[in-house]
Amino acid sequence: MQPSFWHDKWASQQIGFHLGEVNPLLVDNWDSLNIKSGAKVFVPLCGKSLDLCFLAEQGLDVVGCELSQTAVEQFFSDNQLDVDAQALADHTLYRTEQVAIYQGDLFTLPAHLLEDISAFYDRAALIAWPDEMRRQYVLQLAKLLPPKSIGLLITLDYPQETLTGPPFAVSNDWIMEHMSEHFEIELLHTEDVLADNPSFVKKQVPWLTESVYRLTRKG
Ligand SMILES: C[S@@+](CC[C@H](N)C(=O)[O-])C[C@H]1O[C@@H](n2cnc3c(N)ncnc32)[C@H](O)[C@@H]1O
Repeated sequence: MQPSFWHDKWASQQIGFHLGEVNPLLVDNWDSLNIKSGAKVFVPLCGKSLDLCFLAEQGLDVVGCELSQTAVEQFFSDNQLDVDAQALADHTLYRTEQVAIYQGDLFTLPAHLLEDISAFYDRAALIAWPDEMRRQYVLQLAKLLPPKSIGLLITLDYPQETLTGPPFAVSNDWIMEHMSEHFEIELLHTEDVLADNPSFVKKQVPWLTESVYRLTRKG
């Protein structure tokens, strides 16, 4: 997915991935990570997700990265948050109390900006990439996250040949093969979500599962 793909989606507000509520799987599973209040949590490809608000409400300092300026500005305006914007080398840092978002490309985000991160949350980030770019994303995530940081990863899986992504299908096997070099991986939960996703039913996708993993950065 080239940046123009996402810029076009945000410009035309074709943002079917955006949920109008906090992701229930985040609510159900975040406590199991035992992240202490005051910790810093990184949210790659954060969009304007309400999950950022949930994480802030847990007493965490939230640090997102999002390509689209429209998404970032809508996050702060939708939630009626005053924000400061500061231009950095390749990114613009938008900041309010407890939520900071680096607007720009995740692949050029310098790792030193995240050196005090101890947690992370990936919903619709890993699955936003086709296979080759997904491998690059895993390498970049591993580069950005400090050793021992703990995160929640939410994925979707379905027969990829039935649909062109995004979202792309990511199997348990793919995760084990491509992520276990960098992360300890524990599958926390898998459920059949086909009935909750009419757009998949309409395109005759025969099955669809959503999974939640606990990841710990090795090192
Ligand atoms: C599928 S959406 C998921 C957004 C959010 N995680 C959510 O759950 O609503 C993927 C997001 O990644 C952003 N994105 C795509 N490529 C990016 C990149 N290279 N760096 C940072 N953000 C990127 C897109 O603009 C889009 O908002």
